Amino acid sequence: MDNNKESWAQQIRECRACGSTDWQNVVSLGQVPLANGFLEQGLSYEDEPRFPLAVVSCRDCRLLSLTHVVDPAVLFREYLYVTSPSDTMRRHMRRVADLCEERFGIPAGSLVVEMGSNTGEQLAAFQDDRMRVLGVDPARALAAVATERGVPTLPDFFSATSGERIREEHGPARLVLGRHVFAHIDDIADVAAGVRRLLRSDGVFAIEVPYALDMLERNEFDTIYHEHLSYFMVDTLATFFARHGLRVVDVEHLGVHGGSILVFVGHQDGPWPTRPVVDQMREKEQRAGLHEDAMYTGFAQTVEETRHTLTRLVGELRAEGRTIAGYGAPAKGNTLLTTCGLSNDQVEFCTDTTELKQGKVLPGTHVPVRSPAYGEEHPPDYYLLLAWNYSEEILRKERDYLESGGRFIVPIPRPRVVTARSAN
Ligand code: TMP
Ligand code: ZN
Repeated sequence: MDNNKESWAQQIRECRACGSTDWQNVVSLGQVPLANGFLEQGLSYEDEPRFPLAVVSCRDCRLLSLTHVVDPAVLFREYLYVTSPSDTMRRHMRRVADLCEERFGIPAGSLVVEMGSNTGEQLAAFQDDRMRVLGVDPARALAAVATERGVPTLPDFFSATSGERIREEHGPARLVLGRHVFAHIDDIADVAAGVRRLLRSDGVFAIEVPYALDMLERNEFDTIYHEHLSYFMVDTLATFFARHGLRVVDVEHLGVHGGSILVFVGHQDGPWPTRPVVDQMREKEQRAGLHEDAMYTGFAQTVEETRHTLTRLVGELRAEGRTIAGYGAPAKGNTLLTTCGLSNDQVEFCTDTTELKQGKVLPGTHVPVRSPAYGEEHPPDYYLLLAWNYSEEILRKERDYLESGGRFIVPIPRPRVVTARSAN
C-alpha cells in the first residue's frame, strides 16, 4: 500500500453501472474521516486521513455514487466491522436463508458461497440447513474467526478470478450471496463476471443492499460513508445486470439497516421467471421521481435542514447543562456526528456492545467508546440514538433508563426526543 494518503482516494470518472458521465451533484458532506477508522485513545490524531464525501446521481441509470473511491485495501483488509450480535440481525439472517431456500428450491447439500461473509453468521444459518458453505472475505482477521468457528472462509476479495477458482475447486454454486457488500465494490462488472462463472445454470445470486429509495424518502443521509460507494434502485440494478448476461428475477423489500432490498438474480437465459414484483418496484421508483433531478435536490434540502436542526437541538441542551452520550457507535454515527459538526464537547462518550470498539475513540470527533455497563453507571440525560436502525429493540431494552427520566434523541428521519411516555 502506498503511504501517500492522497493516493488512497480516486475520483470516479464514469458510472460503474452504465458507463455514462452525465452526473447530477446531490450532496457534499465535506472532508470526512473513514467511518470505521476507530482510533486508539490518547494518540495524536493529527495525521488522521480525511477524504471528500459527496454523492452524485447518474442521469442515465440513476445510480447514486460517491465521487471518490477509497482504496479497498485501505478500507477492508484490516476491517473492524463485525456483524452485530443483535436479535434483529439473527432473525433477519434466518429469514434470508429461508427466503433463498424456499423460493428457489435449494436442497440440502448445495454449495452456498457468500462474498463479504464477515464472521460467518449468515453462512452458519445455511449450515443449520445442511448446506455446503464457503465464505470469501478480504478482512483477514474476520476470515480467520469464521474459519475457526467452522465456516471455511477464503481471505480474499470476490472477483472474476476468485469466482473462477472457487468453481474449479468446489464446483458450481447453487447460491451466491452478498449481504451489504455489493454497494461497497467499485468494479461491480468484475463481480458480475465472477458470479456468471461460478453459478450453476439454475443458480441464484442474492444481494442485499440498502434501498436508495428508502434512503431518499426517509432522509437516511448518515448511511453515506466511504464504504458505501453505490446506493441502488431496483431499476438501476436491472439495467446493470442485463448488460452482464444476468437478470433480476425477484426482489424482497426488508426492514433492516433503514430499509434494504434483497435482489435475486439468475442467468439471463436461466429457468427462473421474472416475478411481477420486479416491474412493480421499478414502476414505483419511476412514480417517485427516480429520473427527475428534483427528487435528489429535495433530498439535499432535507439533509441540510436535519443537520441544522440536530446541531441546534444539541447546542440548546448543552447550554442548559444537559449531558449527552451516543447510543451505539455504528459507522453511520460517524457521518452524523462529523457532518453535523458535533464534537466530544457535546457528546461525552458512546456506548457500544462491540468489544473491539470499546476503549477506542470515534474517527473525526474522537468521542470515546465505552461499554454498555459504563453507560449504566454514568447515565447521560440524553442518549443520541446513533444506531437508530435498531430503535425498536433498543427502546424496549432501555425501558428502565427511560422510566428513570432518561431520554433519547432519535436523529433520523427527523430529530425527535423520545421519553418514557412517548415511547409507549
Ligand atoms: P450496524 O447498524 O452497522 O449493525 O451497527 C450497530 C452498532 O450499534 C454496532 O456497533 C453495535 C451497536 N449496538 C449497541 O451498542 N447496542 C445495541 O443494542 C445494538 C442493537 C447495537
Ligand atoms: Zn449510470
